[in-house]
Amino acid sequence: MEQTLALIKPDAVGQGCMGTILQRIEKEGFHVRAMKMLRLSSKEAMAFYRVHEKKPFFESLVNFMSSGPLVALLLEKEDAIRHWRSVMGATDHTQAAEGTLRRQLATALERNVVHGSDAEDTAREEIAFFFSTREYI
Ligand code: CMP
Repeated sequence: MEQTLALIKPDAVGQGCMGTILQRIEKEGFHVRAMKMLRLSSKEAMAFYRVHEKKPFFESLVNFMSSGPLVALLLEKEDAIRHWRSVMGATDHTQAAEGTLRRQLATALERNVVHGSDAEDTAREEIAFFFSTREYI
C-alpha cells in the first residue's frame, strides 16, 4: 500500500466542490486514513511550497493557498501517488484530460482545485507537514 497527500484547495472549497471531490476519491477506491479542514497562514503556505520560492508565481500561489480553508487528506491505496495524479489531471486545466478533476472543475492555472504529492519522498514530507501519526485512522 502506498500513501499520498491530497489537498482540496481553497478555490474548490469556495466553489462548493468539496463533496464532488470526496465522492470521486471514494469512487476511485482510495482509503482515507486522515482528513482535516484548515486555513494555512502565509508562512505555512510559503513553507509548503518552498520548492517554488524562486518562481515568478510564488507570491501569488502563497496568497491563494492562504486565502481560505482547504482540506488535507492522507490517501492510501496501491499505486496511490500515480493514481491520484491521474485523477487530478495536468496542472494546467486546459491541458488536462477529459474526466479529470482539473478539467472538470479548475478555473485557472493557479486555481486548479487539487494537489497531489509527486513522489514517495515528497509524499512522506507533505503528509508529515499536515498530520501527526496519532491523527491516522
Ligand atoms: P500544484 O502542482 O498543486 O503545486 C504548485 C502549484 O503552483 C500548482 O499546483 C499551480 O497551482 C501553481 N502553478 C504552477 N505553475 C504555475 C504558473 N505557471 N503560474 C501560476 N501558478 C502556477
